[in-house]
Amino acid sequence: MFPRLIVGNWKMNVPTTTTNLFVAQLAKRVSANVPVEVVLAPPFPFLSEVGSAVAGTSFTLAAQNVFWEEQGAYTGEVSGAMLKSLGCQYVLIGHSERRKIFGESDDEINKKVKAVLHHDLFPILCVGESLEERDAGQTHHVVRVQTLAGLQGLEKVDVSKVTLAYEPVWAIGTGRAASVDQAEDVHGLVRETLCEQWSLAPQFIRILYGGSVSGENAGVLFQSDQINGALVGKACLDLDAFASIIASTA
Ligand code: 13P
Repeated sequence: MFPRLIVGNWKMNVPTTTTNLFVAQLAKRVSANVPVEVVLAPPFPFLSEVGSAVAGTSFTLAAQNVFWEEQGAYTGEVSGAMLKSLGCQYVLIGHSERRKIFGESDDEINKKVKAVLHHDLFPILCVGESLEERDAGQTHHVVRVQTLAGLQGLEKVDVSKVTLAYEPVWAIGTGRAASVDQAEDVHGLVRETLCEQWSLAPQFIRILYGGSVSGENAGVLFQSDQINGALVGKACLDLDAFASIIASTA
């Protein structure tokens, strides 16, 4: 089993204090006795700064996106090698905001997963259904298709390096987190899908929950051993809230 993984996705935001101060204050709040992995995912221009700030702490660095090509005429894009050189260990891929606002397809997401693995970075592959899909009873179908398409063509050894993040679209930024039952149901499906397709042992599949995770609901979510951590948006820029989410893993 892994320690729980808590990822703070800053999205296109920065803390109200300087990043150095934010990271230093967060580090002070995180007890060394709690076995938890904390990852910060700032916007691209802050990766270097946050990378320096986390050096000497137990935190690590993630990027929020990547392009699959190595280099060339791809205006606005960033390669896996570039992220690696900035000290990233993880890369978020297929976040629903990227799928919805930027039209990322499962095929593109799959190329990104492969590019990230190629650079010895760890992908965090996001999947999740919209409210309409849930209401139409399509949750399992949608999540299964996204999971299989995102990981298509990967060998077992590579799939074992991927963290999945179940983020129901209706729970993101709405203050309406999934219930433990809803999260467990989909985590169970994702785990079963990976076990079936790649014969992975269930305890070696890491699945995060994301969508309105807060200091208040994290403790309840983490009572479930199906939920191996959280992908946190809004609350990760609030020191008290993020520290409380991290402490809830104990
Ligand atoms: P919120 O925690 O703000 O709902 O965002 C979740 C998310 O999208 C994390 O990637």
